[in-house]
Amino acid sequence: MNKIGKSKYTVAQIGCGGRGRIHLDGWIKNSDRCELVAICDLEQTRMEEALKGQKAAPSRYTDADKMLKEMHPDILCFSTPPKIRMELVKLAVKHKVKGLVFEKPMALSLNAASKMTRMCNDNHIKAAVSFQHKYLTSFQKLKEILDKGEIGKVLRIEASCQAGLSLLGSHYIDYALWANGNSKAQWVVGHVHGRELLKDQQHPSPNYVMGRIGFENGVFAIIECGQLSAMYMGKRGLCIDNRLTVYGALGYAWCDTDGGWGLFAPRTGGELLLGKGESWIIQQSQLLQPLFVRDLIAWLDDDSKPHPCNINNSYAGYEIMEAICLSAMDRIRIDLPLKPQKSGQDIFNRMRMELPECHERFGI
Ligand SMILES: NC(=O)c1ccc[n+]([C@@H]2O[C@H](COP(=O)([O-])OP(=O)(O)OC[C@H]3O[C@@H](n4cnc5c(N)ncnc54)[C@H](O)[C@@H]3O)[C@@H](O)[C@H]2O)c1
Repeated sequence: MNKIGKSKYTVAQIGCGGRGRIHLDGWIKNSDRCELVAICDLEQTRMEEALKGQKAAPSRYTDADKMLKEMHPDILCFSTPPKIRMELVKLAVKHKVKGLVFEKPMALSLNAASKMTRMCNDNHIKAAVSFQHKYLTSFQKLKEILDKGEIGKVLRIEASCQAGLSLLGSHYIDYALWANGNSKAQWVVGHVHGRELLKDQQHPSPNYVMGRIGFENGVFAIIECGQLSAMYMGKRGLCIDNRLTVYGALGYAWCDTDGGWGLFAPRTGGELLLGKGESWIIQQSQLLQPLFVRDLIAWLDDDSKPHPCNINNSYAGYEIMEAICLSAMDRIRIDLPLKPQKSGQDIFNRMRMELPECHERFGI
């Protein structure tokens, strides 16, 4: 029996596209603790394709409100484009779900991110945003190294990815916070340039972004994403060439999206220790989401076990994302928390209008 007196949590999912299929697999692989009762997509064929080869036989809907009204699931997951977030969080509140999972970027404006976070907290919805790289074996290795204190007191964190701010930038800001034990950020300074990638209305990003963040616990983080960011894999991996590095008083360690990790610490005796986990493709498609779901179930079972991707951590990352851009545009240090934006002050629109054209070549 779980906390709500049932043997399993019931789950409904909206959106059965690329990511939606991975979410479905996550629920189905945890069928000892949850039951996928319904799915919804505007396109019938997407639902059929997503269920191909799966044992589950959920009810199919093309109207999310109708699905929630008829099935009243314990957990709602939506994996839809970023523009469709607020209306689905409102549906989650209306239909009193207990657990909610959705995709990054969590919003396209600070006010929306803040409102959705408040709605979940005020209505006791345990919500988690899909920053699932934390479950990569390389990330877990880094976590183990940090927890054991192998590199001593953490001093500085670096995160880099070549995809844009709203794409992988949102992930890697979140991972920098995670590696720093989710200490509160106090201030941010930033640089942005290039408006070409801001044309993407669903994943708007300046072509290049760099930010420095100061945390309450004295640690600094440097984040860079976009076309000039560090390359560790040459040209072969634009979307997977991402690295999170942590520098401590005694050494340093890093983890990559593609499974690699490294350690230089007293125990490695002056040598660099390198490791490599399972490939990205296998981990992303088969391993990460079931682990993410496991942590959601643990949280639903026990209030004292918040999900590592809980919405409050995600909001902290989103706020930093916008603060970096604001700092760059206003040429000042930004102290957190950010105040609500006045209407017409949307940072992505502002960058679209104010940033000069950029003639550098860019890949994503
Ligand atoms: N966490 C990650 O690593 C990761 C990776 C890729 C994409 N994403 C994010 O996942 C989200 C979805 O991306 P995707 O690649 O799966 O997109 P997609 O376009 O392949 O799928 C979206 C699906 O949502 C459906 N949909 C849209 N509006 C709907 C509505 N109102 N009701 C029901 N169904 C609706 C569409 O028909 C489509 O099938 C995006 O926010 C993207 O940024 C996250």
